Amino acid sequence: METPFSGQIAVVTGAASGIGFTVARHFASRGARVIGIDRSTEVAAVIAELPGEGHLAIAKDLTAPNAAAEVIDEAVGFAGAPHILVNSAGVAILAPAAELSAAAWNTTIDVNLSASFFMAQAVGRVMVEAGYGRIINLASQASVIGLEEHVAYCASKAGLLGMTRVLSMEWARHGVTVNSVSPTVVETPLGKQAWAGEKGEKMKELIPVGRFAQPEEIAALIAYLAGRDAAMITGENILIDGGYSSI
Ligand SMILES: NC(=O)c1ccc[n+]([C@@H]2O[C@H](COP(=O)([O-])OP(=O)(O)OC[C@H]3O[C@@H](n4cnc5c(N)ncnc54)[C@H](O)[C@@H]3O)[C@@H](O)[C@H]2O)c1
Repeated sequence: METPFSGQIAVVTGAASGIGFTVARHFASRGARVIGIDRSTEVAAVIAELPGEGHLAIAKDLTAPNAAAEVIDEAVGFAGAPHILVNSAGVAILAPAAELSAAAWNTTIDVNLSASFFMAQAVGRVMVEAGYGRIINLASQASVIGLEEHVAYCASKAGLLGMTRVLSMEWARHGVTVNSVSPTVVETPLGKQAWAGEKGEKMKELIPVGRFAQPEEIAALIAYLAGRDAAMITGENILIDGGYSSI
């Protein structure tokens, strides 16, 4: 049976957990071959359980020198030119700005911003040559608003929006769209850790829909942007935040 992503190759970072895992499962169950990347070695077991065939797990720390180029070389060698990249690998290291360590700042920028750029750059070269591609970056509501104790996180996610705009301009004529999606808190290991307890309950009250998002809701938006129908959407940042950033 023909499914929306039949014959397509989707590269998903952070595929061992949370949104990345849910996105990988969404694509795989709709016909795509998934190349799942994560620094956690659990990625192998997670990818092995996906529906369909022809998937590949790569255990790699994407902040290592040359990691993105190596991963994309391996993906292309295994499956051919990818049609989709979802940059979901990310960290949230929280502390008051005055107390945040240099190491925490650097790790946050290295994972959330730099690794996403190097992945987009490596796959973008292949997509531009092929004349088709969809790149989706996991930003956050933190890309457009401030959140206490999130200084490095907010800076990294705002940086993704600048990157998204430039890549979209440079690659639009080559059939490659580049967009960001910006969820409010999503009930994943990262979301639950950052918003545990009373702080999380207060946050829910401030979200007009009155709850946090589920990973499947984020995967559905990403799948729309990754589809052929979304060819006219590029350079965008789409909020999926239950109305939080618009109040
Ligand atoms: N959960 C939320 O509330 C929320 C809200 C908005 C945006 N986001 C963003 O969505 C993305 C996914 O978040 P999640 O909630 O699924 O998190 P998660 O912690 O469940 O999963 C993140 C994955 O990224 C991997 N990863 C981290 N550093 C890596 C590295 N250096 N190299 C390779 N893999 C690495 C982790 O091993 C993990 O499997 C992140 O970019 C996050 O900032 C999450």
